[in-house]
Amino acid sequence: MSNQHINIGVIGAGRIGKIHAENIATRIPGARLAAVADVNLNSARELGARFQVPLIAADCQEILKDTSIAAVAICSSSETHAQLIEDASAAGKHIFCEKPIDLKVERIKRALVAAQKAGVKLQIGFNRRFDPTFARAREFVASGKVGEVHLVRVTSRDPAPPPLEYAKQSGGLFLDMTIHDFDMVRFLTGSEVVEVFATGAALVEPDLKRLGDVDTCVVTLRLQNGAMAVIDNSRRAVYGYDQRAEVFGTHGMIEVGNPVPDAHRHLDETGEHSAKLQTFFIDRYADAYRAEMQSFVDCLRLDRPPAVSGMDGLLATMIGLAAGNSLAANRPVTLDPSELRGVS
Ligand SMILES: NC(=O)c1ccc[n+]([C@@H]2O[C@H](COP(=O)([O-])OP(=O)(O)OC[C@H]3O[C@@H](n4cnc5c(N)ncnc54)[C@H](O)[C@@H]3O)[C@@H](O)[C@H]2O)c1
Repeated sequence: MSNQHINIGVIGAGRIGKIHAENIATRIPGARLAAVADVNLNSARELGARFQVPLIAADCQEILKDTSIAAVAICSSSETHAQLIEDASAAGKHIFCEKPIDLKVERIKRALVAAQKAGVKLQIGFNRRFDPTFARAREFVASGKVGEVHLVRVTSRDPAPPPLEYAKQSGGLFLDMTIHDFDMVRFLTGSEVVEVFATGAALVEPDLKRLGDVDTCVVTLRLQNGAMAVIDNSRRAVYGYDQRAEVFGTHGMIEVGNPVPDAHRHLDETGEHSAKLQTFFIDRYADAYRAEMQSFVDCLRLDRPPAVSGMDGLLATMIGLAAGNSLAANRPVTLDPSELRGVS
């Protein structure tokens, strides 16, 4: 496969599908956007037309049966991912899949086993690992510059809550949004989560309460290496998209801050002003989305394991489910490693 372009079909032409499709079509050497499918054919047509994509379909089976297509990027709604992983595996396609793989552990395990048995590569869309600043923080921790890690803090605050229709099928705050932070704690520390204590409320969007969801949370995690982490989330920060982290250890601390569009300082009679934070994930993580797709394509071309595995997707979901149970029971919940039986 090393000298050929990798033909990739994008399944799901919504917010994230558009980002991946554009990157594959225009920014990833060695890849070609060969197809777009969306149950809403108009969405597929609109996206496909932007890049003169040869195959446009409402049914993703059209992509799966096309033997010139080597891989798919699953960007459809969360509840469709596990089945699509199984279908793509059966068709022998390599898979990039957005988070979460599914909302149920057993369903995820079935999908991972299907990919493993088919011998196809599966990479999960934890894009923040590819952000240059988060990646640098991991390098510092891994090289020992922070020393023995004792504390981790992760802050993720969205500018506005998603539409209720999206929230309904998203799995809720912990599996839709905090899942990135659970992965980030595992990524930054290289250690596994053993205990979760979550508290939360619907302070931004009262309708989420009716859905049994929350939009504001604090989650504390205890890690296998003895360290502790605290994550705070809000679905609405009026000042923009807020994404920060800190890893504190025996030799010091590494901090991940918010990049700003430009570094000006304006002073007037009301005080000092600077550029507003970036607006949302689309601009904040533009480089990370490109880098994660490049990494996926490189792992196919060079026959390497994907940088983010199906197991990473499963573990982050297990932490999210434990957070939901903790919130409901108002007590810490221990993760059950026996749930990992049957997958590797
Ligand atoms: N990694 C990230 O930063 C990130 C950001 C946003 C969304 N996501 C994830 O990506 C997924 C999609 O989110 P979104 O915000 O793009 O949603 P969206 O609603 O904007 O788009 C989803 C699209 O999938 C299509 N679709 C649904 N079922 C399908 C099927 N069976 N086959 C083909 N198309 C189908 C819908 O018609 C829609 O166009 C979700 O799982 C979400 O969690 C990840």
